[in-house]
Amino acid sequence: MNVADLPKVELHLHHEGAAPPAFVRQLAAEKKVDISKVFNDQGGYAFKDFVHFLSVYEAATSVLKTPEDYARLTRAVLEESAANGVVYTESFISPDFCGGGDVAAWRDYLAAIREAADKAEADLGITMRGVVTCVRHFGPEKAKASALCAAETAGDWIVGFGMGGDEGQGHQGDFSYAYDMAREADLRLTTHAGEFGGPQSVREAIEDLNVERIGHGVRSIEDAGLVKELVARQITLEVCPGSNVVLGVYPSIAAHPIKRLRDAGVNVTVSTDDPPFFGTTMRREYEMLHQAFGWDADDFTNLNTTAANAAFCDDGTRQRVLKKLERS
Ligand code: HPA
Ligand code: ZN
Repeated sequence: MNVADLPKVELHLHHEGAAPPAFVRQLAAEKKVDISKVFNDQGGYAFKDFVHFLSVYEAATSVLKTPEDYARLTRAVLEESAANGVVYTESFISPDFCGGGDVAAWRDYLAAIREAADKAEADLGITMRGVVTCVRHFGPEKAKASALCAAETAGDWIVGFGMGGDEGQGHQGDFSYAYDMAREADLRLTTHAGEFGGPQSVREAIEDLNVERIGHGVRSIEDAGLVKELVARQITLEVCPGSNVVLGVYPSIAAHPIKRLRDAGVNVTVSTDDPPFFGTTMRREYEMLHQAFGWDADDFTNLNTTAANAAFCDDGTRQRVLKKLERS
């Protein structure tokens, strides 16, 4: 069988970062916003490095102005994910972009997103859950506002709290207040670390924020003691190989440490991060990993089971997802 046809679990997807360029162009035209600088000559997203990527991301996101826009975004993203065989997806959603950190406005955005997700579950068979994210380069005060939004809406659909943005700004520990708020609201925790930051950034994430998953975390491979600790603590890495290659963290999939981390016993999972920005899809990630490392259907089913077990959803949902991964 073609491994790309397998049912998939995705744990690391930035909601706006999954917006197809055609969708963003359409919204920009409707709203008469000029975001031509966001696109290259081929109509894809244009950026030269990670920090530039973040600013292009924010410019593209600026066309999403209402809850209705986010409902449409959700439909477009879930159609694409479902077409890639994704049966369960955890999407990072930022109150900073959805109502500017105001709880009442956030509730309206969230209601629109959930309604679109419920409809997609009914007619596309894909289950979505939300992980509220703060944005590191917006600073700890904005992160507290995001954490409050997360805490106020925590439950069976908003299941986690995380942090994206520029890893070069500040320290994980600067955000401990926001993370404490989220933890007290029973949200499960993840943060971006060990992508542009080295192993020390992963240690800080574990020690200062007490997260159970790490977004990327791949540079842990540079510290054998840390790799052992990830295994001992059963921390799951949300690995996005194609994203890492496009952003220059590694020169190729073959040079990527995902196989070495997996062979060392770390819980690794596979996601796309911001697929149209990085010219990837879940199908493509599987094809690239199959080509580079010879992983077969059993390997990928194993990765997806790891992902389902590390998902932040309730156990009833998890069992339904695990059932969909079973192969005869
Ligand atoms: N990494 C970090 N922060 C982000 C990303 C990403 O890929 N996308 C949106 N915010
Ligand atoms: Zn990410």
